[in-house]
Amino acid sequence: NAAEKGGYEHFMLKEMYEQPKAILDTFSPRIKGNEVVIDELGMSDDEIRAVKKIMIVACGSAYHAGVTGKYIFEGLTRIPVEVDTASEFRYRDPIIEDGTLLIVISQSGETADSLAAIREAHAKGGKVLGIVNVVGSSIAREADNVMYTWAGPEIAVATTKAYSCQLIAEYLLAMKFAHVRGKISDAELADMIEDMKELPAQVEMLLNNKKNIQKFANRYLAAKDIFYIGRGIDYAIAMEGSLKMKEISYVHSDAYAAGELKHGTISLVEDGTLVTAILTQENLYKKMISNMEEVKTRGAFVMAVTNVDNTEVERNADYVMYIPKTNKYFTNTLAIIPLQLFGYYVAVGKGCDVDKPRNLAKSVTVE
Ligand code: G6P
Repeated sequence: NAAEKGGYEHFMLKEMYEQPKAILDTFSPRIKGNEVVIDELGMSDDEIRAVKKIMIVACGSAYHAGVTGKYIFEGLTRIPVEVDTASEFRYRDPIIEDGTLLIVISQSGETADSLAAIREAHAKGGKVLGIVNVVGSSIAREADNVMYTWAGPEIAVATTKAYSCQLIAEYLLAMKFAHVRGKISDAELADMIEDMKELPAQVEMLLNNKKNIQKFANRYLAAKDIFYIGRGIDYAIAMEGSLKMKEISYVHSDAYAAGELKHGTISLVEDGTLVTAILTQENLYKKMISNMEEVKTRGAFVMAVTNVDNTEVERNADYVMYIPKTNKYFTNTLAIIPLQLFGYYVAVGKGCDVDKPRNLAKSVTVE
């Protein structure tokens, strides 16, 4: 067992460290020069142009990848996107019409709720694209087409590398769709490809900051509640960061769209409450800073995750984790790394069974 972990204390840590390679393995077969080529998509350019609506359906972290996907698809392609948790989707009599593309995201490819969503879509004549990690799994077999994430086997219950690859798959799809539909130019696509190629090394660099994050995490072993706030795609990453924390460390945490705080969660903020603020979207910096001020005046300790050039944030944050510069649509890939490490080290510090948290299963094959 120790050998299987390749010298790492837990599978989760090992898998976090496999992220640079997993990300590279997921995008490199699909980039040919300055083009994104996704043969397994099974759609001609005309069919890509005919898509009128995208519905993304998934569970858990894959659902969070889907929430990021909504912002990215809509931002880049201008196709309307709906995202649902699979357990809700099939019971709301979803509207699937000509031109609707259903994307089901799943690491295991065996999640019962997600599989049921495919069947619901098929019963209504819809077409399904799976973004799946396990080759030959049930979801891979039942979807009309499959785009595999090449994360390799994932053992830890809390997903890290498979989630990161799901984001990459979505970036590639959105870039492809946007280019085919004339929403981004050849030059813009080439720039995005260049930025994508930087991601593995950038992720590696962030992972190597683990000592500092461990030190910081050790201060929060007794935390009762931790809040994660963000706007736009940073709200999506807040959800995933919060899930990482609560699922393995058993510290209650909640993700909130930062502007929505004042309509509820802020009543829970008291002296010393940790609020993690994620701000990677330049057009939202100002709004985020005022949300950080709102919690600070109520005694919160604010940790910020932001872009390396946004040092101004230090005026409103007590602790800052910087991420390197990338395309504005790719920041989730970098921002999640310190948040994964943070959840991991709080769990380690508390002596939790990191790889096998209580009550959870790696894949849930019952509804
Ligand atoms: C379980 C796991 C989660 C995972 C979710 C969806 O609840 O504990 O980590 O995100 O299932 O799994 P899937 O295999 O469909 O991605």
